[in-house]
Amino acid sequence: EKILVLHGPNLNLLGKREPDIYGATTLEDINTMLQERAEGLGLELTVIQTNHEGVMIDAIQQAQGQYACIIINPAAFTHYSIAVRDALAAVSVPAIEVHLSNIYRREDFRHHSVISPIAVGQIAGFGANSYLLALEAAAGLLGADKQ
Ligand code: DQA
Repeated sequence: EKILVLHGPNLNLLGKREPDIYGATTLEDINTMLQERAEGLGLELTVIQTNHEGVMIDAIQQAQGQYACIIINPAAFTHYSIAVRDALAAVSVPAIEVHLSNIYRREDFRHHSVISPIAVGQIAGFGANSYLLALEAAAGLLGADKQ
């Protein structure tokens, strides 16, 4: 089964960006961890990071029929991008929302996600491990953990 991992804006700066909030782990480290775990689960990952809303929307649209699941950290788009939400709603690929930080214990403007209502579920607050937990969740959804 194929899974699309989408990382939103500024996540290319992980490791350097506000390390007190997001940790010292780089995006490359996270992607390596994900690829290793995916191999163990027999899942094939495609990973995309973009700072551009339109690129993210194109990637979601193109996921239709190509991927069994989308793991998405929409980053700041989480809080305001109806366009990213609509793209996810338009495709019949289940989405799992991921955040490194616990968005509910941060600034008020991060407490609301426009993505959550159309996601299968959300994992937030576990740092880089949030992504691994999302991969476990995807494996569970797809039955890949039962083989
Ligand atoms: C984030 C949380 C968002 O509020 C923020 O804009 C990000 C990262 C997280 O992974 O914790 O860029 O999605």
